[in-house]
Amino acid sequence: MAKAKIKKIAVMTGGGDCPGLNAVIRAVVKTAVNYHGLEVWGIEDGYLGLIEDRIHPLGYNDVSGILTVGGTILGSSNTSNPFTYPIMLGKKQVQKDVSEQCLVNLSKRGIDTMICIGGDGTMVSAAAFAKKGLTIMGVPKTIDNDLWGTDITFGFNTAMTTATEAIDKLHTTASSHHRVMLVEVMGRYAGWIALYAGVAGGADVILIPEIPYDMKKIADYVIARSKKGRRFSIICVAEGAKAKGGKMVVAKTFKNSPDPIRLGGISFLLADQLAAMTGLSCRAVNLGHIQRGGIPSPYDRTLATQFGHYAMELLMNGKINRLVVMKDGKLNSIPLGQTAGRIKTVPKNHPLIAAAEAVGTSFGI
Ligand code: F6P
Repeated sequence: MAKAKIKKIAVMTGGGDCPGLNAVIRAVVKTAVNYHGLEVWGIEDGYLGLIEDRIHPLGYNDVSGILTVGGTILGSSNTSNPFTYPIMLGKKQVQKDVSEQCLVNLSKRGIDTMICIGGDGTMVSAAAFAKKGLTIMGVPKTIDNDLWGTDITFGFNTAMTTATEAIDKLHTTASSHHRVMLVEVMGRYAGWIALYAGVAGGADVILIPEIPYDMKKIADYVIARSKKGRRFSIICVAEGAKAKGGKMVVAKTFKNSPDPIRLGGISFLLADQLAAMTGLSCRAVNLGHIQRGGIPSPYDRTLATQFGHYAMELLMNGKINRLVVMKDGKLNSIPLGQTAGRIKTVPKNHPLIAAAEAVGTSFGI
């Protein structure tokens, strides 16, 4: 194998956490230390730790026993872009480019390479660091599965399993009380979690951002079910779902975040509207961050391990400034900057939509 001129590696986890991050960190450190005799450092709390110079050695013992642990031992942050870092100038908050300081914090430790495990926001900054001459390798993560360029991200499988288990539990209480239960799942502007958990959990209606719904169609559907003796319905709603001609429901905005918008609350609005239109008892539950927590599924552990190992192999083979991806079942990589401004949404002709429709699931249209 052609050895690349990699001396010391720093690894960081940025953006919202997800199950499987620790499995990547473990794979990176173990491959780097065991296989290539390299030194690895851990950056705390994503780019925030890089800015604040919180970087510590990460050895074999630090990553032992973390494969099954959710979250990230390094910590994460999704409000600290080094290129637009908010600082106070007198009483006014302004944005400053502190990326040079970040480079100093790495170079004074002899670190020449950074492995950035993150989503789209993390990759935009990673690409900007690559332009400044730092050797970068990106590893994609997100429960949303919406990162462009890769068929799958680790975290998604665990999140959709958690959401499916919640739907399974809601079935019994919905059935006992002859209710319409709406379960809201995460996913930002993409409906992957809702589609997969909705189908796996046998939801009667699945609402995703890619297919704007018609409220009357949903009401007619649950009434028709009730007339046929199916006295309860389960509706799986993506947080980004919206009515035809309508808007997504924004819960909060955080102006220092790469994507300032936080969606949430659609299920509660829908429950009220549906109760008024049908006269049925409707209840909503938003699963929220429960979907980001817990132990990673075996699928996510294996995917994350492969991503971490492959990131190291690419680096050692001189392939730099790339993003590890899974394409058609094979590990691959794409140029780092390629994902910027793009998201992977559910195509309307996705086979799972067709299968769901064939078994009688409504998409509210
Ligand atoms: O991108 C992951 C995700 O969990 C989304 O599904 C959700 O919209 C968002 O992050 C929530 O962000 P935060 O943790 O900042 O509330």
